Amino acid sequence: MSAPLPESIHEATAADLTRIATRLIAEATGSPPPAVSPLPVAMADLPSLPAAFPAGGAERMCSPKAAPFPLSFPPAPNQHTAEEAPADPYAGLRSFVSRIRGIDAATGDRRAAGLHGRDPSLDAASAAIRAAAVAVTGGPARYGAFDVEGVRRDFPVLHQTINGKPLAWFDNAATTQKPRQVIEAIARYYATDNSNIHRGAHTLAARSTDAYEGARATVQRFLGGASPEEIIFVRGTTEGINLVANACGAGIRAGDEIVLTEVEHHANIVPWQMLAERTGAVIRVVPIDDRGEVILEAYAALLGARTKIVAITHASNSLGTILPVETMTGMAKAHGARVLVDGAQSVSHFPVDVRRIGCDFYVFSGHKIFGPTGIGAVWASTEAQASMQPWQGGGNMIRDVTFAKTVYADPPAKFEAGTPNIADAIGLAAALDYVTSLGRERIAAQEHLLLEHATARLGAIPGVRLVGTARAKVGVLSFVIPGRDVIEIGRALDREGMAVRAGHHCAQPSLRHFGLEATVRPSLAFYNTIEEIDRLAAAVAGIARGRPA
Ligand SMILES: Cc1ncc(COP(=O)(O)O)c(C=O)c1O
Repeated sequence: MSAPLPESIHEATAADLTRIATRLIAEATGSPPPAVSPLPVAMADLPSLPAAFPAGGAERMCSPKAAPFPLSFPPAPNQHTAEEAPADPYAGLRSFVSRIRGIDAATGDRRAAGLHGRDPSLDAASAAIRAAAVAVTGGPARYGAFDVEGVRRDFPVLHQTINGKPLAWFDNAATTQKPRQVIEAIARYYATDNSNIHRGAHTLAARSTDAYEGARATVQRFLGGASPEEIIFVRGTTEGINLVANACGAGIRAGDEIVLTEVEHHANIVPWQMLAERTGAVIRVVPIDDRGEVILEAYAALLGARTKIVAITHASNSLGTILPVETMTGMAKAHGARVLVDGAQSVSHFPVDVRRIGCDFYVFSGHKIFGPTGIGAVWASTEAQASMQPWQGGGNMIRDVTFAKTVYADPPAKFEAGTPNIADAIGLAAALDYVTSLGRERIAAQEHLLLEHATARLGAIPGVRLVGTARAKVGVLSFVIPGRDVIEIGRALDREGMAVRAGHHCAQPSLRHFGLEATVRPSLAFYNTIEEIDRLAAAVAGIARGRPA
């Protein structure tokens, strides 16, 4: 039985991509598909793949059905337009697979095809994203279409002066500000419902339990999970990754490989190093190129029978790069590896659908998506949960305890020992509802306009070196002014009322790729304005001209 045919590559599920890629890799290399291939299918069963950006693509990409962000699959360089349908419906994908194997599709030469050189088709893709952004917001001329002033009224903290200047919050990658809807949800909970949960026969216990479990269902819907039981509440991304690294540790043996990328946050490096130290597993690192994009040929070459875990960020907090996580997951799955995606910098910026990505784990922090600190979530597929051991023991995670033996509760309770952070789970749900009410496609489009403006303004300042120029990015701008101390630049901007991060951003390997130990990092959210960006650019230009920082 063949699966229903996706209308375009943007609608292909990870499973579709996996089986197509597996088949084509086998064809390109002449070896049989790996035994672990989840869905080996006959060529005739493969869906036909139209061009990545069909005519009218900008509008289509803005519909909720075909979410535009992030780029789910880099279009192949020989991409045909919809009008000029390719004779071979797999030409684009075939070429892509050949290129990641280092084989030029046209000549069959075994030479590196340079996927990450200047690739006009990817520039075309980024132009299509720009077009989509303009289609959603009405473009810079109708910048008010997003009603940024109305949105800003929801954020009390934004309306203050710092050092006599209006606060401009450009530290969104570190943490986001909270709308009154979130603040009120937490205050209301403590004022009217506070109780411990999952126990107690009284009314407040029932209300609190309902609100907490309701928050779990909200997170599940937000991520596109199949059931609320797939959501495990944790303190944040860091705790979530530690949970997965510990809970999956029993399946890791000496010599097994854990694949990370060069752009990972320390939270997605250190827990795996600790696991590797305990088990004798080996860490392999996918390099990036000088734009800050992962080199997919190198990734393909690292994957193999020993690969047990691939842990990758969806968006880099230091460079802004959006990684092609669907493609990377499909490639990892062809080798039977488990895949964790770190969503700390993605969920607040563009729509995410975990089942479409096809990963096993997706992790994020509440405070980076306009919610409270101290709360976050791990989405773990039911199938992945079945192989996970609990990592903390205590109340709430058991079905029965004797001194001889403990029987664990079913997930997610099995992974939530002790009294959880009830109030902040409720606050997180309020934040996700808030983001949903604004519209995640609209947020992505609005932020893209802001990013384009900021990149153009900062990039034009003599003496400013922008680091991280990937073609698909979230609103993170890392820069240095050679000869000027980044901390001093941060302080100078604070004197102008502007909050930016200055330092290594807990992602040292990514900055060392560029020969740097630290950068200044303004990071954007939908409540930032063009005027704020202009103020930032003017202040940075002054510093670059030599005004004392
Ligand atoms: C990409 C990424 N991963 C993980 C983390 C860690 O998040 P938290 O400190 O909320 O646990 C961050 C925080 O900046 C991040 O940007």
